[in-house]
Amino acid sequence: MTSKRAIITGVGHYLPEYVMSNKELESYVDTNDEWIRSRTGISERRILKDPDKATSYMAERAALEALDDAGVSADEIDAIILATVTPDYMFPATAALVQKRIGAVNAYGFDLSAACSGFLYALSNGGMMIESGRAKKVLVIGADKMSAIVDFTDRTTCILFGDAAGAVVLEAGEGGGIIDFVHHTDGDEQCMLYQPAGGSLRPATEETVKNNEHYLRQDGRSVFKKATEGMADVSLEIMKRNNLTGDDVAWLVPHQANLRIIDATARRMGIDKEKVMINIGKYGNTTAATIPLCLYDWKDQLSKGDNIVLSAFGGGLTWGAIYLKWSK
Ligand code: ACO
Repeated sequence: MTSKRAIITGVGHYLPEYVMSNKELESYVDTNDEWIRSRTGISERRILKDPDKATSYMAERAALEALDDAGVSADEIDAIILATVTPDYMFPATAALVQKRIGAVNAYGFDLSAACSGFLYALSNGGMMIESGRAKKVLVIGADKMSAIVDFTDRTTCILFGDAAGAVVLEAGEGGGIIDFVHHTDGDEQCMLYQPAGGSLRPATEETVKNNEHYLRQDGRSVFKKATEGMADVSLEIMKRNNLTGDDVAWLVPHQANLRIIDATARRMGIDKEKVMINIGKYGNTTAATIPLCLYDWKDQLSKGDNIVLSAFGGGLTWGAIYLKWSK
């Protein structure tokens, strides 16, 4: 392994202003605040209400904040990787829209589709660009406008998701950074969590619209079971590979899908609750944005040398973990 590693030098985020409470959801579907909080840990989520704004807008705002935090100007960025399942368009890539708007004139950019694991896949791949020496500065963004694909008449899904973006700047450094990653994919279960129509298999027709096939669908119970096992397994896998015990880990940064999944992961890793970043209560599941949002919310509490395990599970199925040593 080369001594040159990718370190995070800047963190940014964007949250829409509009707060949708559990109470408000009670007026759309047969649910209640107590059920949502006790089954998921979610109290409220942010929704991007402006119909003229989409994922690229949130990504742009998060990216600009991350660049500012890193003290890097947009024209220094070599590549932009934007993880999302809610791109503005099927094509062009949302990364291209962001590239133009932030003025990253020397960067190429592309979208990465790995659902809730998207940010981790993007971060590890951005890290490899830096380690190879082919890129000096990479912008990694996780952004999703989940409200665009959520069916607000389906109580089993509409309570879970929110809109947000998070971003980091990666640069070469020593003594820390991305130390290791493990990623997995299992395409056998693609229909456990997916958006049936709108792709090339089922392009939009009157029928697909009538059947609500452009909304996210999931078998919640099965996803819950797979996610609980998968997130804990992959977190333990990365700890074992790097000889880390629960005591060695300063922070667990779990994907925020359900508080019960997060608790089970932390328990199996042997990590105290105070060392687990949890903000699902305020934002719900923002898909590719949850992990960078946590890094943003906790950035003032991170210390140089902290061992951090990032862990996620999502549609695909996809799952993975990254071992990061904080070096900012
Ligand atoms: N309000 C009230 N009751 C509800 C609601 C609701 N919003 N949703 C479902 N119920 C009912 C069900 O109809 C069911 O009733 P029944 O027993 O009469 O049939 C009962 O509550 C229990 O339903 P379950 O599906 O067993 O509830 P569960 O405890 O599994 O919680 C949930 C459902 C929250 C969706 C859970 O399965 C979950 O979190 N799954 C993971 C899904 C997820 O996070 N996906 C996102 C992407 S993947 C990822 O990020 C990991």
